[in-house]
Amino acid sequence: MIERNDLCWCGSGVKWKKCHYPTEPAYDFKALVREYKKRYGIILKTADQIQGIRRACHLAATILKKTCEKAQEGVTTNELNDFAEELHRKAGATAASLGYGEPPFPKSICTSLNEVICHGIPDDRPLQKGDILNIDVACILDEYYGDCSAMVMIGPVDKEKKQVVEVSKECLRRAIEILKPHVLVAEIGQVIEDYARAHGCSVVHQFVAHGVGLAFHEPPQIPHHYNNLAIPLMEGMTFTIEPMINAGVRSGEIDPIDKWTVRTSDGKPSAQWEHTVLITKEGHEILTLP
Ligand code: MF3
Ligand code: CO
Repeated sequence: MIERNDLCWCGSGVKWKKCHYPTEPAYDFKALVREYKKRYGIILKTADQIQGIRRACHLAATILKKTCEKAQEGVTTNELNDFAEELHRKAGATAASLGYGEPPFPKSICTSLNEVICHGIPDDRPLQKGDILNIDVACILDEYYGDCSAMVMIGPVDKEKKQVVEVSKECLRRAIEILKPHVLVAEIGQVIEDYARAHGCSVVHQFVAHGVGLAFHEPPQIPHHYNNLAIPLMEGMTFTIEPMINAGVRSGEIDPIDKWTVRTSDGKPSAQWEHTVLITKEGHEILTLP
């Protein structure tokens, strides 16, 4: 029997282990990158890109945390917007939401109160006891994007509101927990809708999570509801998870005047939490931590 340190059978004069010794085929990451781009439009990020995205995400999370701390009874959402805008400016960043879309989103953060599902526009209404508020911060730092949101409860809130706030937070936690290479995109919606239904809540279909990092919204779209998208997660993917959970029906209506604010069709409360995550070789990393 030939041993690893014997001369190779091919006559090269080199040890077998350095010559024709069989090895695992090298894991061809470049081929995978091409495949994900071609099949799904998904950009698997390089180490340098991940570093940039990590910084943008950390900033978004820091701005979000500080803005949530400011959100108290009597404060207006316009004041929160101006505060967050100033934090972007000081960090040399810009708000991804400002001027985004058509018609251009008019403010730097989204503030979605009570029955507003998402894309609420900051205004001069002071926060009141019993309000629940989602603050959504997305920032651009050195051309990289980070996106996150969280809920704030103003004083004591009723049971129904507390329930959606807690259920949406737990949906996000459970979805993140399963993330690793080869898990299918469909499994995210499965975990979220299973939990929401079991707790008497519905999952919004009209708005989905998304790839993020080199642009605000990149492929893939990631539904939070039951679906059959057979895209395997892969190392280097960066995307959001941002379940919008309603106390009543799942459907919402876009405000016909401002074309942004989305309210539940039945006027019942809605809540949302959002993180940007990275898929790693072993599992995942939450990027939007302060
Ligand atoms: N930040 C939201 C998201 O999670 C998008 C807001 S679009 C805006 O994708 F224009 F309203 F800011
Ligand atoms: Co998002």
